[in-house]
Amino acid sequence: MSGQKLITERKRTHRCGTLRAEHIGQEVVVMGWVQTYRDLGGAVFIDLRDRTGLVQVVFDAGVDEAIHAAADKVRNEWVIGVVGKVRSRGTNVNSKMPTGEIEILGAEIEIFNKAETPPFAIDDDVDTAEEKRLSHRYLDLRRPKIQQNLMLRSRLNHVVRRTLHELDFLELETPFMVKYTPGGARNFLVPSRLNPGNFYALAESPQLYKQLFMMAGFDRYFQITKCFRDEDLRQDRQPEFTQIDLEMSFADMDDVHQVMEKVIGNMFQEGIGVSLPAKFPKMSYDEAMRRFGSDKPDLRFGLEHVVLTEVVKAHPNGGLPLFEQAVAQGGMVKAMVVPAAHQLSRTEVDKLEPEAKGVGALGLGRAKIAEGGSWTQSPFAKTVSDGLRQAINEATGAKDGDIVLFQFGPAKLVHTVMNHLRLLLGKKLNLIPANQWAILWVVEFPLFEHDEKTNTYAAAHHPFTSPRPEDVDRLTTDPGACRAKAYDLVLNGNEIAGGSVRIHDPNVQQKVFQALGISPEEQRAKFGFLLDALAYGAPPHAGIAGGMDRISMLLTGATSLRDVIPFPKTQRGQDLMTSAPTPVSDRQLEELFIKSTPPKA
Ligand code: AMO
Repeated sequence: MSGQKLITERKRTHRCGTLRAEHIGQEVVVMGWVQTYRDLGGAVFIDLRDRTGLVQVVFDAGVDEAIHAAADKVRNEWVIGVVGKVRSRGTNVNSKMPTGEIEILGAEIEIFNKAETPPFAIDDDVDTAEEKRLSHRYLDLRRPKIQQNLMLRSRLNHVVRRTLHELDFLELETPFMVKYTPGGARNFLVPSRLNPGNFYALAESPQLYKQLFMMAGFDRYFQITKCFRDEDLRQDRQPEFTQIDLEMSFADMDDVHQVMEKVIGNMFQEGIGVSLPAKFPKMSYDEAMRRFGSDKPDLRFGLEHVVLTEVVKAHPNGGLPLFEQAVAQGGMVKAMVVPAAHQLSRTEVDKLEPEAKGVGALGLGRAKIAEGGSWTQSPFAKTVSDGLRQAINEATGAKDGDIVLFQFGPAKLVHTVMNHLRLLLGKKLNLIPANQWAILWVVEFPLFEHDEKTNTYAAAHHPFTSPRPEDVDRLTTDPGACRAKAYDLVLNGNEIAGGSVRIHDPNVQQKVFQALGISPEEQRAKFGFLLDALAYGAPPHAGIAGGMDRISMLLTGATSLRDVIPFPKTQRGQDLMTSAPTPVSDRQLEELFIKSTPPKA
């Protein structure tokens, strides 16, 4: 192996994937990895790869025998530099390659490093088990698709920073090692060696710090920052993830929306060349739940839900005692019509039942509309009264040949089941158009979520979210009825951002803590610094945080967050490449005043 003359003396002139016909005749220096090599007797053809793509290099024995012999030695994934002249491929144009009109006639080659044969081919089309890819992530990251994903993500970061700087936001940092505060996601804990028996929490978000920035007078803050949550992981969740976090003083909901519309709009425009509307539509939480059974509705397709609770109430003794019972117990009845055009067969409908049960349903009610509006293929067909049947047909708009699916019981369960079925059928029936973007604000969330088992309230967003002014008096008398000045941004059925107007009045903050069952003593111990800061002159303020990983996933068309995070964790929170997390020695634990106990069997 020779030295690094091409790097120290010649320097790279171009990136591989950028060469085009306009470069014909130029001498270039390119560097990268050998994607493929073919020895066709008198000539060696190498496809050389860097992050911009591939270029073909030819080493022709007829032109230079020594260089041909040198090139003949290289193998896949060797790292080389090449000097050569760009020439036309003439009639051998490869239209599949962006550089396919040209090739480089190699005049010099320098081998920087050899490579072992990789455990899998560096190629987008090769189907390698994800575990294997993640355990050699540095190789996996060489794949063109994932390189493009991360390059797009880098561009998006730039767009966010530029847009927010233009809007007068300051990029300020907040600590990762913070005080543990209850509520919200489960925290990762960090033991403090200097304070035996005490722990920091890894910040689940910069929430309180960004509010403190407002109280300190910084007016507009943002940060692209890591957040840490010890949650059960899913395709759209990672234990450490990135937020576009921002906060503004003297601002209300609409001001935050305007800023975020600009940020997201620019990300779409400059990231993937798509223009979003300047203002995003809004939908109330209640409407989203009623029509879609979800607070993050995917508006790219129909199959909307119809609430039948009132219809059932209006038809006492309508022959559907199960529906009536659910309503009498304070529950709800919902229906969803699958139009005849989709030709859902009886067996296909049967297969939906275990799906519904999988998310908690006891069963799945259904009916097929036959001639004259009668019902067939239905457990309800014989008992339903004509009046109730007609009223349901009318309310749902169901026509001849359509299938109506029903769910009844506690509202939360009914929404969950019907949302699951809607999304499932949307996919199964190919109703979700590709390359379409449905973005909306979901607003007017409840302030609290009620836990029926413990009869306690938890913050639906977080405890620093402002109730609507008209609900403040109900904080102590009827917390369940309070609405929040909170909002989520939803893109194609994914929650991509969430935020709220904050409480800036210490009395209101105390009332919210009280509604959450946090005693005055506990409030002082846990949130004393916040209550004090609020008392020293807090401006009205509001903010939001966008999920950078989720936005990147959607814009790149990836289906997993792992395809837009360079070094992600698996479903079990492991890094397969470094094998973190790992045990540590007893000595290390002693130093931290910690004892590890094995999990109970
Ligand atoms: P929230 O908890 O809604 O709000 O988070 C904001 C956004 O972050 C993304 N997100 C995640 N992405 C990947 N993996 C996760 N585990 C994960 N959890 C959340 C989502 C979500 O919309 N402090 C508040 C924001 C505020 O009020 O300003 C907060 O953290 O896209």
